[in-house]
Amino acid sequence: MILQNRIKELVSILNDHGYRYHVLSQPAISDAEYDSLYRELEALEASNPEFILPDSPSKRVGGQILSEFQSIAHQVPMLSLDNAMNAEELTEFDSRVKRFLAKEDLPEAEVTYTVEYKFDGVACSLRYQDGILLSAATRGDGQVGEDITENIKTINSIPLRLRSGLLAKGTIDIRGEVLILKDDFLKFNQQRIAKEEAPFANPRNAASGSLRQLDSKITAERPLSFFAYGYGFVSDINLPEETNQVMSLIKDAGFSTSSFYYLASNLFELLEYYQQALAQRAQLPFDVDGIVVKVNSIPLQKILGFKQRSPRWAIAGKFPPVEAITKLLNIDIQVGRTGAITPVAILEPVTVGGVVVSRATLHNQDEIERKGLLIGDRVVVKRQGDVIPAVISFIAEARDGTQVKFIFPNNCPVCETELVRPEGDAVSRCPNNHCPAKTAERIRHFASKAAVDIDGLGERNVSFLLENGLIKNIADLYRIDFGRLAELPRYTEYSAQKLAQSLEDSKSITLDRFIYALGIRHVGVRTAKLIAATIYKIENFFSLTQEILFTIPEVGPEIARSILDFLNQPEEIALVHDLLELGFNVQEIKQIEIADNFFKDKTFVITGSFEKYSRDELKELIENSGGKVSSSISKKTDYLIAGEKAGSKLAKASELNVQILEEEALISLILNSYSDDKK
Ligand code: IVH
Repeated sequence: MILQNRIKELVSILNDHGYRYHVLSQPAISDAEYDSLYRELEALEASNPEFILPDSPSKRVGGQILSEFQSIAHQVPMLSLDNAMNAEELTEFDSRVKRFLAKEDLPEAEVTYTVEYKFDGVACSLRYQDGILLSAATRGDGQVGEDITENIKTINSIPLRLRSGLLAKGTIDIRGEVLILKDDFLKFNQQRIAKEEAPFANPRNAASGSLRQLDSKITAERPLSFFAYGYGFVSDINLPEETNQVMSLIKDAGFSTSSFYYLASNLFELLEYYQQALAQRAQLPFDVDGIVVKVNSIPLQKILGFKQRSPRWAIAGKFPPVEAITKLLNIDIQVGRTGAITPVAILEPVTVGGVVVSRATLHNQDEIERKGLLIGDRVVVKRQGDVIPAVISFIAEARDGTQVKFIFPNNCPVCETELVRPEGDAVSRCPNNHCPAKTAERIRHFASKAAVDIDGLGERNVSFLLENGLIKNIADLYRIDFGRLAELPRYTEYSAQKLAQSLEDSKSITLDRFIYALGIRHVGVRTAKLIAATIYKIENFFSLTQEILFTIPEVGPEIARSILDFLNQPEEIALVHDLLELGFNVQEIKQIEIADNFFKDKTFVITGSFEKYSRDELKELIENSGGKVSSSISKKTDYLIAGEKAGSKLAKASELNVQILEEEALISLILNSYSDDKK
């Protein structure tokens, strides 16, 4: 084959595989095969530079160092979008569009909307001429941007030559966002920390910094991706008249586009997609800050036209922010029921997505080091989906030398026993079974609603009883001297009597709840139920072996080991015997049908604040029972669990005919599903 043709062929093959790998995520050859083809091309190009093609993958490695960026004027300005902060404002957008069209004598115009993600990255405009990437510019002030062509070429998901299709002749500016996928961002920041370089605060900042490198070889090392969302200047190409059709052309030309892309034929559907996108937000591989809604018909877009800086035919439906910046005041150490040591960030209170956050989990020791956090740092706090807040990163520029390193303790902060951390384990633990912190947590767990349910024995009361020496362990609860209790300031004769009654009532319990109450590591409500269904009676509990445990569905080596550990501890066995002697009546279970329980395949949404449980605890209870918890309401939601101040979700639930349950009702459903004896 003629050399020039082989070069052409190699470029085409390599670009094809690059597209499969970076855009479709469906590689067709191994990395080694790709590398070998690439090396062949490299060698041919080295000895025949006159045949180097403009779309050769060798153009992606970065070129000369620039002294400054040149300017590029946008032939069609890059505008911004108006924001709708919630469903009401999206509704107003729809009314505005229709009013405007009515004014233009088009009252009957059928308006459908495209709905897609609003990428939280850096906007760019890519000029393609006859299918070849010619230049690329940042948004700049919307009229003039910076020429970042060399940097853009290093991004593997950007085609250097458009794939076959209508766009491959003529001129078109493809518009989209450069961003960094969340996973890539984490890895990239870890590498920076390892090299003692300051980590970036978030993927957007990292993407922006990476595009503004004068040395494109540096950009080439950054894990950038590109998602196309539209077009600007077009000449000599006949585009179809509908936005969604143009988007499929853009996709076919070789770009990644929004995976969430729908056509809403009315306002109701539009709001549904907004909720759906919001619900999926936390699971996405990249950050989005909302959706973008566009009138699908391009002729109607032309009629609607523009205001000063934004089109009338599109709007950003923003999501409530889930990130905020605040000060890391201190790091606290918490000791859990199983002795697990969890560092907790104590933060200057800040509102994140409408919730005031003053504490956030830091998971474990490595996490603090991986993130490079110092006490006194300004930190980025994020609420993950609807739930627990976490510290994401710190702001390097805000360091002023007053920040100090956190020394992770070697000893339990409560009982001072030396902590243990088995090799390969991320979590340090306090091994002391008499550690007051562990004891308190265990008692609390034992008394909780899903366990033996001792009314009136919350966190504070447990601490009070321990501090006043009325109890030392779980069994002591049933030996409390109520005469003494009634004399203490926290209790009256009446409340002491009530507690005595609750304790008495708690003794009558089904086997699964009894097992759950023991607080064995890894044994949640669901596992406890499965164990109970296997052993029927408490007597069999003591003779559980690994063999029997392995016959229990869902019980793997880790759970089995943890249960056997428990059974091998004389103190734990003594506790169970003690409880039985103190009058526990553990009811036998013949058979429990767990697979078809009430919660299976049902979706719950939790909103508002609750009396007995936190939202996280309710979520855990539902999930332990086999249900799913989602953060937004749609037609697919089975139940809304509504607490105090339930707000807009409550209204939405009634609108969609979603059944509403209160905390009390949910708990009894959970308990029923565990104590039902469905023979
Ligand atoms: S369409 C006339 N679609 O958001 C402007 N923009 O706040 C039409 N953005 O400058 C823009 N994702 O950089 C559009 N799916 C998307 C988008 C998107 C992110 C950015 C874009 C724009 C900014 C406006």
